[in-house]
Amino acid sequence: MLRDVGSRDKEFIECVKFIRHKLIEIAGVSQDDFCCVPVQGSGTFAVDAAFQTALPREGAKVLVIENGSYGKRMVKICESAGIEVHTQSFQEDCAVEPEVIEDALGGPVVYDLVAIVHSETSSGVINPVTEVGKIVKENNPDTIFLVDAISSFGAVRLDIEEANIDIFVSSANKCLQGVPGFAFVIARNSVIAKCKGNSRSLALDLYDQVTQLDKTNQFRFTPPTHSMLAFKRALEEYEVEGRVEGRSKRYAANRDILREGMTRLGFQELLDPKVAGYIITSYKYPKDPKFNFQEFYNRLNEKDFVIYPGKVLDADCFRIGTIGDLHPQDMVDLLVAVEEVCRDMGIELPVQY
Ligand SMILES: Cc1ncc(COP(=O)(O)O)c(C=O)c1O
Repeated sequence: MLRDVGSRDKEFIECVKFIRHKLIEIAGVSQDDFCCVPVQGSGTFAVDAAFQTALPREGAKVLVIENGSYGKRMVKICESAGIEVHTQSFQEDCAVEPEVIEDALGGPVVYDLVAIVHSETSSGVINPVTEVGKIVKENNPDTIFLVDAISSFGAVRLDIEEANIDIFVSSANKCLQGVPGFAFVIARNSVIAKCKGNSRSLALDLYDQVTQLDKTNQFRFTPPTHSMLAFKRALEEYEVEGRVEGRSKRYAANRDILREGMTRLGFQELLDPKVAGYIITSYKYPKDPKFNFQEFYNRLNEKDFVIYPGKVLDADCFRIGTIGDLHPQDMVDLLVAVEEVCRDMGIELPVQY
């Protein structure tokens, strides 16, 4: 990232080509049937671009299956683009139930696209995308199945073909451990081929973006050169770690250490372990009146540990992520810090509920 390369320079063009090819390889799909479209910006930009591009300007109907903030964000994206959106909601601390989707799709409305989040990072739930994908296609093979896999791609196994996914979104700075700056869409060529002129936005038009990239491996507009150079390196490190096997093993080990240590300190998880992933874990606030999240957060921050506030609407909780360049020893160190902070705040241990 300390080097500047020209966005239309040969070295950068090779870098873009490498990344696009490698991401399809990592996704485990055919280079002939799928394309990889990097999009400048954060994950939300690519999700927005996917909706904008996939759906015609008039008459399209979408079903968003949601059980948390990122599902709700997809609803907002549709609303802001003027796309007719229906919602099938589930409780935020539960996984999506495929049988309910079967019923929802069995009604009179024919959906052009059904969307779901794989790892709902607001709580940590992993949704049964493969089962849902089968139901979507059994109901109507022409319905596009879109999956937000932003916080899971690369570390939670998902067979894109088996899950009948047509459009798949992720970003540079989650499980593939790049830095922020761009996100990407992996899409079926047969779907993208029908999308010319759909996008209501020039910058978020994936059809135009991929057409230009396929011709020249150059972006239409200024690309995040430094982020992409860093990402190329991140993909090399991903290979060395053993791809999804290696990365999932380390993240799950991180989560296991966290789970064991936090349980020892009395903290309760929001989710039933059956539906929880190993990407991020939500903990309920303890009852102790001395527990104050902002102070807890600040004190951990002073010790160089950055946690997350909660993101579910109806429960007071905080979250601890276990992805990125974090290793089991980091989790051990975090637990020492959590214990020290609780003692310094005068919180009784183990914490009470
Ligand atoms: C599942 C999921 N979807 C969407 C987003 C939004 O991504 P961004 O904040 O990069 O726009 C996130 C971010 O954490 C996420 O975890």
